Amino acid sequence: MNFELNGKVALVTGGASGIGEACIRVFHASGAKVVIADLSAEAGAKLAAELGEGAASVQVDVADAASCQGMVDFALQQFGRLDIAVNNAGISTELAPITETSVEDWRKVVGINLDGVFYCLKAEIPAMEKTGGSIVNIASIMGAIARDGAAPYISSKHGVVGLTKTAALECVSKNIRVNAIGPGYVETPLLKKATLEHLDQIASLHPIGRLAQPAEIAAAVAFLASSAASFITGAYYPVDGGYLAR
Ligand SMILES: NC(=O)c1ccc[n+]([C@@H]2O[C@H](COP(=O)([O-])OP(=O)(O)OC[C@H]3O[C@@H](n4cnc5c(N)ncnc54)[C@H](O)[C@@H]3O)[C@@H](O)[C@H]2O)c1
Repeated sequence: MNFELNGKVALVTGGASGIGEACIRVFHASGAKVVIADLSAEAGAKLAAELGEGAASVQVDVADAASCQGMVDFALQQFGRLDIAVNNAGISTELAPITETSVEDWRKVVGINLDGVFYCLKAEIPAMEKTGGSIVNIASIMGAIARDGAAPYISSKHGVVGLTKTAALECVSKNIRVNAIGPGYVETPLLKKATLEHLDQIASLHPIGRLAQPAEIAAAVAFLASSAASFITGAYYPVDGGYLAR
């Protein structure tokens, strides 16, 4: 798939695995220069080496504001501009009711999934001010609905949707569009870690009858990042095989 991103510079947090990796691959194949930003320096460097020219990697912990600023500074130093940012890094935890969820687990998930997007936006928006740009935050179908036993994850993803809408309103005058994607369940390491024995049951919750592949989420991200989506901002797009339509 080619989304005609020649001359653009695209940064993806959590870019070394799963949905983030798929975004990096579609951006690179579409002619953009890419910055793979990930907690795993090793996995990021491996992917950058595989892609070769026009790809660079940087270690980031999105739960740390200074680290997010360093990531954006790196992108500007490396490629001179920032046009596209995908705030994708995220984690889940074992399911537990609120009364059995530890404060540490709450803080860890919210710190990465929600604070992390806030820290990234704080660094990315000024970097895009002169050129304009497109930011895509990866929320979840769990940004629109709830399920029992996942309070930190669901709260963080609802927060990402609200943060996206606020950022979009604040950025219209800067020619920066900000949107969110709500993936259904996607076959990635994150999903396999959390729910290995329930994969068939989870797949059946999607009217389309299967899990998503990372590239199917990345295609929607690349569309929102491209000039084809020039009138779209402040939107939350489920990419969910019909999950939310039930
Ligand atoms: N897989 C799904 O079913 C699914 C569904 C809906 C939404 N999502 C969301 O999509 C995003 C990506 O998920 P995935 O399934 O591709 O996960 P994944 O586990 O395959 O990849 C996540 C990447 O983020 C990196 N990462 C983790 N913590 C980080 C941190 N503090 N700073 C920087 N990088 C960090 C990891 O090293 C990894 O490379 C997450 O925000 C997740 O909540 C996933």
